[in-house]
Amino acid sequence: MPYKMPSTVGLLLFVSSVLALPQGEGEALVRESCSTCHRPEILDRAQGYDTIDEWRQLMASMIQLDEPRADIIARYLTQHFKSKPELYPTLISGHIEIEIDEWMVPTLGQRSRDPIEAPDGTIWWTGMWASLAGQLDPATGEFREYPLPPTAKPHSIVPDDAGFIWYLGNGNGTVGRLTPLTGEIREYQTGLADPHTGLFHPNGYFYFTAQRAGAVARLDPTTGDITHMDTRARPYGIKVGANGLIYVAFNGDNAIGEVNPETLEIHYFTIPHEDSRIRRLDVGSDGSIWYVNSARGKIGQLNPVTGKVREWDSPSGPNSHPYAIAVIDDIVWYNESGQRPDALVRFDPESETFQSWAIPSGIGIIRHVWVTEDKALLIHQSSSNHIGRVRLIESEPPHEDTSAQIGAQNELLAR
Ligand code: HEC
Repeated sequence: MPYKMPSTVGLLLFVSSVLALPQGEGEALVRESCSTCHRPEILDRAQGYDTIDEWRQLMASMIQLDEPRADIIARYLTQHFKSKPELYPTLISGHIEIEIDEWMVPTLGQRSRDPIEAPDGTIWWTGMWASLAGQLDPATGEFREYPLPPTAKPHSIVPDDAGFIWYLGNGNGTVGRLTPLTGEIREYQTGLADPHTGLFHPNGYFYFTAQRAGAVARLDPTTGDITHMDTRARPYGIKVGANGLIYVAFNGDNAIGEVNPETLEIHYFTIPHEDSRIRRLDVGSDGSIWYVNSARGKIGQLNPVTGKVREWDSPSGPNSHPYAIAVIDDIVWYNESGQRPDALVRFDPESETFQSWAIPSGIGIIRHVWVTEDKALLIHQSSSNHIGRVRLIESEPPHEDTSAQIGAQNELLAR
C-alpha cells in the first residue's frame, strides 16, 4: 500500500468537559469538530494565531473540514485565540548551519511521535492516538502506515537488526513486534501499566520503562519472558552506556537510575533540587550522562563515577521544558517544548555556548529524538502531525576579521 490519502483519527479520547468558549459564530462548530480527540481547553493552553491562514494550517494537520465550516472556525479562533508572544522561544544565533526537512504524515491528528531509523534507512514513527506505526522512505517521500491493535496506542518504537519493528503498547500494557513484510503483529503482555520507552541492549535483550507502573523491565525476544524491577516514580527515558549499564531518567523524582542489565538492580543518583524532573537523557563519549531537567528549564551533566552534577539554564528560561535529548559527537541537542514554536537547541559543552532554531512546523512537541547512521537527528511534532530530519550543513565557522582569517590560514599551512 503506497501513499494513502489523509484520513482522520475518529477517537473520543476524553470525555469533553464544557469549557466556557467565547460566544460567537463558530463556538458550536469548535465543540463539534475540535473536541473528538482532545478537550477544547487545549485552545487556551496553545500558542494561538493572529491570522486565519495560520489557524487553517494548524487545523489541516488534524482534521479535514469542508467549507464553510473550516472558514467559520478559523475566523472564530483568529478572533478569540490570538498569538501569545510570551511563548516565543529566546533564539540564540551562532555559526552552525542546519537543514530541517519535515514531512506531514498521512493520517491526520494521529499524534505522530518518536521517529527512528531502521537498518534499511527508512524512517518509522508511531501514531499514538491512531494506534499505528508508520514508515517513510526519505528518498522518495513514500509513506506506509501499519495498523496496530486499536488499544495498543504505541508510544515509542525500536528497530532490531533482523528487520522487526518493536513498539511500546502504552495503551494495552504490551510490547509488540511488527513484521513489516506481512504487517503481522505479535504482542507480549507485560503485566505493567504504561510501557513507555525501550531499547535493545548489545546483550540482545529488550529493556523498557513502564512509567505509571514504576518499573524497569527486560524482555527476552527469543522466549518472550519478561522480568521487571520496581523503581522510583515515573521512569521515563532509557539509554545504554558504553559500560553496558543502563541509565534511566525519572519524571517523578529528582533522580537518574543506573541499572544493572543482569540483575535489574538500580543505583540512584540524586539530582539537586527536589523539583527536578528528568524526562530523557543520553550518554557522552566520556561516559557522562546528559539530561534535560524538564521541570526547571535546564540541561545537566552527571558524572556517574563521582555523582557530580552540573547544570545550565536553557535559553528560553525556567518554563522552557527541555524534553528530548541526544548527544552527537559530544554536542548536545535538545528541544524547548514549552515554547511555540518548539525550539531546537544545540549546546557545545566545550565552549558552554548555545545556539537555537525554531522548528518550521513548530506547533507541538518533540518528545523523543533519534540519531541516524549518518548522524542526522530525527525529530517530530506531535500536534502538527509532522516528522522531520535535522542535518548539519558542513561549513567553516566565520572568522571575526581578516587578520584572524589570515592567522588561521597560516596555522593551517603550518600543520
Ligand atoms: C483527529 C484528532 C484531532 C482532531 C479532530 C483535532 N485535533 Fe487538535 N490535536 C490533535 C493532536 C494529536 C494534538 C497534539 C496533542 C498532544 O500531543 O498532547 C492536538 C493539539 C492541538 C492544539 C495544541 C497545539 C500545540 O500548541 O501543541 C491545538 C491548538 C489544537 N489541537 C486545535 C484543534 C482545533 C482547532 C481542532 C478543530 C478544528 C482540532 N484541534 C481537532 C489531534 C486532533
